[in-house]
Amino acid sequence: MRHLRRTFVLTACLLIYVMVYKFKQPSKPSVDIENLPVRPLKAFISSSYYYPTSKSLGDNAVALLMSINLLPTSDYNPPDFKEIVIYAENSTSSIIVRTPHHKVTYNDQCQIITIFATAQLIPNVGKIEMVSDDGRTEIPFTKPSYINRDVVVCIAPLFVSEQWQNFLFAVHIYKKYGAFVNLYLISAVNTFYNLMKEYEGDGYLSVQPWASVKFHGISKKIADTHNQIELRSQVAAQSDCLLQYKEAARFITFLDLDDILIPRLAPTYAEEFQKLFDKNEQISYLFYQKENYNAVVTRYGVRFSLKNMFGSMTYKHFRETGKSVVDPLRVNFTSLHFPPQTPKTEKYIVSENVITHLKTIDWVDKTEDPDEKELIEPFYYDNSSAIIPKKDIMDLEDDLRKMMTRLQKTRMFSKLPRIRYYSDLVLKCYNEKYYDLYYSNRKSEITCPGPQFCDFTQQVNIKCVRVNATYSSMKKLMPVTYYYATDPYFSDEMGCYAH
Ligand SMILES: *[C@@H]1O[C@H](CO)[C@@H](O)[C@H](O)[C@H]1NC(C)=O
Ligand SMILES: *[C@@H]1O[C@H](CO)[C@@H](O)[C@H](O)[C@H]1NC(C)=O
Ligand SMILES: *[C@@H]1O[C@H](CO)[C@@H](O)[C@H](O)[C@H]1NC(C)=O
Ligand SMILES: *[C@@H]1O[C@H](CO)[C@@H](O)[C@H](O)[C@H]1NC(C)=O
Repeated sequence: MRHLRRTFVLTACLLIYVMVYKFKQPSKPSVDIENLPVRPLKAFISSSYYYPTSKSLGDNAVALLMSINLLPTSDYNPPDFKEIVIYAENSTSSIIVRTPHHKVTYNDQCQIITIFATAQLIPNVGKIEMVSDDGRTEIPFTKPSYINRDVVVCIAPLFVSEQWQNFLFAVHIYKKYGAFVNLYLISAVNTFYNLMKEYEGDGYLSVQPWASVKFHGISKKIADTHNQIELRSQVAAQSDCLLQYKEAARFITFLDLDDILIPRLAPTYAEEFQKLFDKNEQISYLFYQKENYNAVVTRYGVRFSLKNMFGSMTYKHFRETGKSVVDPLRVNFTSLHFPPQTPKTEKYIVSENVITHLKTIDWVDKTEDPDEKELIEPFYYDNSSAIIPKKDIMDLEDDLRKMMTRLQKTRMFSKLPRIRYYSDLVLKCYNEKYYDLYYSNRKSEITCPGPQFCDFTQQVNIKCVRVNATYSSMKKLMPVTYYYATDPYFSDEMGCYAH
């Protein structure tokens, strides 16, 4: 799906809006702010990593990401909540630590935001509990990856996804230039999901279920998980990926499935990123701009060709807010397009290369035989050179053909979706409810792009897998009650979309 562009501008507008709104309150005689109840906080822990060793967080550190209903509303007074309190124990000893939390989300349209916290615990922790004033909540935790990798590409959560051509384009390219893909998944058309799992089995990527935020038994008035979570907590997914590969990867980049980065300064991603980071030893992240392209692809899986897809690409003369590549030792969390600015954060805006963004894609009936079609490389936006050498296109095509041959018996390619149903609806909805308002200067009409921002009619003929997990109800604690999900899995019995 599309990203929200220029979140910073929006944030500023919304802050002003919130301030004006709050300012007006005292003039309404019926509302007595002093006597409003204190808002009960609900925090959904989406990531909890325990690092026996960490080069940047310190040994025995814990890192937490949570979605919490922290933004003001007119119904409640905000509680005093500045620090997170954590209890940890090993077989011989225990500790209680207090640590500040940091805001990860840079969008004040949504009441439920993502926060990050980290603290030093003790060696060989066996149990972690979140401490409230009147009780504690034991939470599950995992260790991050310690398998060394040059580059990890974190793909933002996909939902009702049908774009298998984009997927094939991306995974073959990332593998060729030395990156491992960690793809977050909420829901996808069955046949496309089956293809992803085959590619996962062959080591191209890892598919990570991204469970929804739920507060079991909590009313919408207190914490509205249907409408008040920005983009299905995408920044939490991106930051989860960063924390998961913090000790493992030299570089981590956060992209959408339709964003393609191809190295230009060196034969691999790792060498290109290293060259750019070497410009200045203070750099925490690289910022690549996005240049928009259109692609024309066949709707028939068995006739798909990367060579033809490259040949069809045309530049749309339009640049969009880009994406970042971080040094995981110098960044602890990231928002949508880049990590939040701190006094220690230094960025390098890349002028040497860009992200090729497949902004629009046409699925067509007409198919051309890739063996007969002339090989055409797409060019950079400024027409300075080809985005990719011809030889590399042929290598990618060969790699695709190998997979097609291997999967021939399963008929997996021929079963892929031939029509776009949900992707067109998502695009239409985001254009109408977001981009059109944004670009026509009606920003105050924009509402939080929550999980139920768009209301789709389920198409009975399209079967999807969708993530489910086990959620428990929790005893109410003050000032904050902690929640989490366990055992996420994909089910094909829940439809494509939640209501
Ligand atoms: C990340 O967290 C560690 C541990 O708290 C801290 O020392 C470091 O400064 C943080 N990095 C950034 C960029 O804030
Ligand atoms: C438990 O933590 C204490 C306090 O840091 C430490 O001294 C002790 O070695 C740890 N026990 C184990 C079994 O690691
Ligand atoms: C871009 O460069 C290619 C190859 O040099 C050339 O064929 C093409 O005409 C150029 N296009 C434009 C718009 O200048
Ligand atoms: C989701 O999973 C939970 C726990 O395993 C289960 O009780 C529930 O029925 C599932 N929901 C659906 C819609 O299948």
